Amino acid sequence: MILPLMNIVKRIVGGGFPENEYPFMATIWLFENGKYYFKCGGSYIGKNIILTAAHCLYGRDIRRFEIRMGGNNIFKQRHTFKIKKVVINKEFNSSNLQNDIAIILIDKEPCKLGYKSLLIPCNHMADECNKMGAPLNVIGFGTVAPNVGGHIENLKKINVQTIPLEKTGYNHKLITKNMLLANNIVGGKICDACTGDSGGPAFRKINGKNYIIGIVSWGSGCSKKKLPGVYTNVFGYHEWIRRIGGFPPCANH
Ligand code: ARG
Repeated sequence: MILPLMNIVKRIVGGGFPENEYPFMATIWLFENGKYYFKCGGSYIGKNIILTAAHCLYGRDIRRFEIRMGGNNIFKQRHTFKIKKVVINKEFNSSNLQNDIAIILIDKEPCKLGYKSLLIPCNHMADECNKMGAPLNVIGFGTVAPNVGGHIENLKKINVQTIPLEKTGYNHKLITKNMLLANNIVGGKICDACTGDSGGPAFRKINGKNYIIGIVSWGSGCSKKKLPGVYTNVFGYHEWIRRIGGFPPCANH
């Protein structure tokens, strides 16, 4: 009788939300030394397309990656996908992580397996996407402390808010208009993404639908008050995503 109780406790630690709450969460795995290792998060955005951070894939042989989806437990994901093609944004700079965005085409369409996608913001959503102080949900299997590596077992969610560059301690030269800065302070604790959350979504419900606003990209350490998480501002790439992904202009696919 002790076991079921432990499971409940674990589920709460892992987020405390229903099993299929985030049917767009994907994970990226890299095959090395005879085994798949968790590398990054990603988001399903429709058709056979996963959106992630370029630094998750950069410089690697794409045949060594696979994508998994389905469920809150990282060891029990229901579906595995092979990668057909990767498109890393041409402007990606691996030294300062500018334009940290990439598209992955997988071998099956998750929507046909019951998954729901995040929507890509449209032109008319510029204000909504760039508004300071706006809330964002961030989900991932990343660790809760920097430099530990690895991942946690159950998907976690944090709520953060975008903050203007002026209020942070970041060198202004490092932050471009295509980056969003966000964290949150809850009961004196700073909520932030961390290692392993990279590539995963920062999203928000707008008119009842979940839109992808940011991609976890980098940060100076984790959970430091003046050094919030840095996210790729997806709005700046919405046309690129549509073109590369073959989505109709501003359609709610
Ligand atoms: N670059 C990290 C990764 O590869 C993500 C770090 C995000 N850091 C932060 N403080 N929000 O997983």
